[in-house]
Amino acid sequence: MDRVYTLNKVELSEIKALLGELYARFSTVENEEAALACEVAATRLPAGLLALLRIVASGYARSGYILIRGFEIDDEAIGDSPQHWDQPWHDRPYLREELFQVLLSSAIGGVFGWRTQENGRFLRHIVPIESVKNEQLGGSSATTLMWHTEEAFHIGRADFFTLMCYRNREKATTNIACVDDLDLPEATVEILRQPRFIIFPDKSHTPVENSSEQWKLNAEAFSAIQEMMDNPQSVSLIYGRSDLPMMRVDQAFVSPVDGDEEAAAALAELHEALDRAAITLQMEPGDIVLLDNLRVAHGRSVYQPDYGPKHRWMRRVNIDNGRRINFGLRDSQKIRIML
Ligand SMILES: [Fe+2]
Repeated sequence: MDRVYTLNKVELSEIKALLGELYARFSTVENEEAALACEVAATRLPAGLLALLRIVASGYARSGYILIRGFEIDDEAIGDSPQHWDQPWHDRPYLREELFQVLLSSAIGGVFGWRTQENGRFLRHIVPIESVKNEQLGGSSATTLMWHTEEAFHIGRADFFTLMCYRNREKATTNIACVDDLDLPEATVEILRQPRFIIFPDKSHTPVENSSEQWKLNAEAFSAIQEMMDNPQSVSLIYGRSDLPMMRVDQAFVSPVDGDEEAAAALAELHEALDRAAITLQMEPGDIVLLDNLRVAHGRSVYQPDYGPKHRWMRRVNIDNGRRINFGLRDSQKIRIML
């Protein structure tokens, strides 16, 4: 399967018509009604595009990602790149772009946000923030954003997610590695399949990274995260059927259980294998990539932002399609067959 799909003129005009309908009805995508409307409208996406997205979502496509190209962003109309993720929810000059991303994402499931991450917002702003440039956060730039799957620590993590590029003149790369492409010895995989690892919640789910001018922080919302910090459960990093494996990865927030040197060695091997399997994407304005969060890990290269009005600007949307619940029970070749 070709992993890059370029929208043609006919498809773009059909998408434009759908966006026009949604744009007329909603002033934000950040509510249940708008998200549901996007799900309904997504059934009317151009047939070829819809089929492709559904193929990736079905599990037949083993690559774990697809890059959709061709959507044109009006660089003037969207305004300046935000200097922080903390932006207003309404009256945004980039509503058209937000609708496009939620529309495409909704072709394979429901978009969702986390109460402990930007107060449940569906669409995150991923922009460079100087104060966190060395952190393992979306706002970093001076350090490699290490291998991770989104919310690897959480049982409710996204099945899929999309990343959309508004600006990337710094030419940062998005790095991707699929579990199928890991060349690991059988014995190492066996260790990675055992609950000998701890993944702590990443910093984006902490109160300090979520204080905002847009809402009042509810400390109680973070109690479950705090519990995961205080009493972490040990987990396996590779799981599911051997012919259709899944993985959870968070290089910066994972450790072997205390004193388990064998697990520590397997963990190091896993991270090296991810490096060897890496595919790099240099995203351009209008690009949107759909990633299988249960089967691919991702990261980002170092880049040098100028913290000005045109600096790098990405958006992320989580998608839940209920696949995790019974995916491990299905035949890996005949995905509609429950074993
Ligand atoms: Fe990420």
